[in-house]
Amino acid sequence: MKSRKVTKAVFPVAGMGTRFLPATKSIPKEIMTLVDRPLIQYAIDEARAAGIKEFIFVTSRGKSALEDYFDHAPELENTLKRAGKTELLETLKSTNMDSGAIAYVRQNRPMGLGHAVWCARRLVGNEPFAVLLPDDVIASEKPCLQQMVEAYEETGGNMVAAMEVPPAKASSYGVLDIDEDMGSMVRAKGMVEKPKAEEAPSNLAVIGRYILSPKVMNNLNKMKQGAGGEIQLTDAIAEEIGSEGTGVYGFRFRGQRYDCGSKAGFLQATVAFGLSRPDLSEEFGLYLDDVVAQQKAAQ
Ligand code: G1P
Repeated sequence: MKSRKVTKAVFPVAGMGTRFLPATKSIPKEIMTLVDRPLIQYAIDEARAAGIKEFIFVTSRGKSALEDYFDHAPELENTLKRAGKTELLETLKSTNMDSGAIAYVRQNRPMGLGHAVWCARRLVGNEPFAVLLPDDVIASEKPCLQQMVEAYEETGGNMVAAMEVPPAKASSYGVLDIDEDMGSMVRAKGMVEKPKAEEAPSNLAVIGRYILSPKVMNNLNKMKQGAGGEIQLTDAIAEEIGSEGTGVYGFRFRGQRYDCGSKAGFLQATVAFGLSRPDLSEEFGLYLDDVVAQQKAAQ
């Protein structure tokens, strides 16, 4: 099957980030820093690598720092230019977004992930689109969404990133009911948002990367309440399973996912990304060795 090119991506960033209070009292969670880049930058870079040209942010009140982050900063750029700091200047410029490439829509009430995505419906129009949840940071050789776009070119339909989780953790995720397992990919026969541990159809969990048919937006129009009384993206995708639907595939991406929506996950990502940076790995690695040795000695 030949599928249409995916050039638009939706980034739901309206959440209040209460898990990171008090930090998120005045800064959006997506601006929090992993080594030296805000979380959102990792998602943007991943989307760009996958061929995304239009970036749609679903924001809410108090997120203006995000909008400023993607804007040009002429004064800062001129200062760096004058000081001959070309490397820093390039780093800074790589965060700029072209005029018209980025759009913001507001979600005026927190009604769930499905509702947030639905807020972008007019900007998405009648074409397939990606959704990236910036809390899920994925370290991989080939960026996760790029892996998915390549697989999607073969399948069409709808594709969600998927990962095996311990059975006790399945209730924190959208979970796939597997129809056929092809190894790197599964065809789903069902999808449940945050099932009770004993009711989870498998331990294959949905991770925050999606390539969706515009039909999912139509399904969201129904505003059906799901788990937690919220409008769930998982439910709208699940409607595409079955003979009338466009089909749903789970894609087992190659890479390591960090849950930067939790404090422990954010710390783990900080260690992993810090260690993977050539300019930091030696000093940081030695420090970590030291910490471990001290802990062992104290036991
Ligand atoms: C959201 C989705 C869920 C998915 C998860 C991945 O849940 O609703 O289906 O498994 O992201 O991170 P949240 O973590 O926002 O509760």
